[in-house]
Amino acid sequence: MFHLAPSILAANWCHLGDDVKKTVDAGTDYIHFDVIDGIFAPQISFGMPVLASLRKECDAVMDVHLMIEQPERYIPTFASLGADIIPVHYEACNHLDRIINQIKECGAKACVALNPATPVSVLEWILPKLDMVLIMTVNPGYGGQKLIPYCIEKVRRLNEMKKAMGLSFDIQVDGGITLANAGDAIEAGANVLVAGSSVFGKDIEASTKGFMELFKQYDVSVVSAEIWSDILLDGHRHIPTQSVSEDAKMRSVAMYAPSKTFSLAGLVGSYHIIYNKALRDRHDKESSLSHYD
Ligand code: DX5
Ligand code: ZN
Repeated sequence: MFHLAPSILAANWCHLGDDVKKTVDAGTDYIHFDVIDGIFAPQISFGMPVLASLRKECDAVMDVHLMIEQPERYIPTFASLGADIIPVHYEACNHLDRIINQIKECGAKACVALNPATPVSVLEWILPKLDMVLIMTVNPGYGGQKLIPYCIEKVRRLNEMKKAMGLSFDIQVDGGITLANAGDAIEAGANVLVAGSSVFGKDIEASTKGFMELFKQYDVSVVSAEIWSDILLDGHRHIPTQSVSEDAKMRSVAMYAPSKTFSLAGLVGSYHIIYNKALRDRHDKESSLSHYD
């Protein structure tokens, strides 16, 4: 399941409520709320009163990204004001395990964010406790920066760890995400995409819908069972195996399907990679589906 998490850091706060409503009405179900303290990251953004106001107006999942030192000081307050997910920075926590416990005890989902230069391996022992990992794709502090390409490789590495460990946490990317590069992040394994300037800096409704359309290309849950069986029975014969990575083959989560099949589903284009949890589950359940062997 993919989610767009529009970052209100890029919104026009003179009409914040209206702008948030526009993106929610256009299909998004998360709102990304960047709290910056001017110490951990170089800018002072907004905090509790804004969250309290917004929470009253908006039912979306509130994803409260704490770019602050010693986040444990404020986690209970943000949770009580309606934060549903709280990403804290690995680099800002002295006792990360304790802070993860604290977030959960407050009733929120726990997420750890990593700055671009921090390797994903630092999370090895904590991954089973996490609901989400946030890979920063820019240095934290400002909206409107360009995505740092090697961060996509970190997403891929994290996704490999996730599969190897049999975990199901979400992978979020944040910073410089546009409609043009969102597919790269998704193909690397991300399923929650933060976008500030690409949503609030443009026509909010059109941009949100653009992301929703993109998600459909990757989310086979939108493909009907009938069409999906076409893919299973026919598409697999057309898989250009040389183009499918070993990793993808092993995990059976990626396959190429012929464009005609996608056209049936209203999705045009040539070959698309499908990340398909449903397929994986079905494959596990029906091991007799020999065409995956
Ligand atoms: C950066 C913030 C991001 C930022 C993203 O420190 O964490 O959430 O708002 O904005 P864009 O999408 O414009 O890079
Ligand atoms: Zn953020």
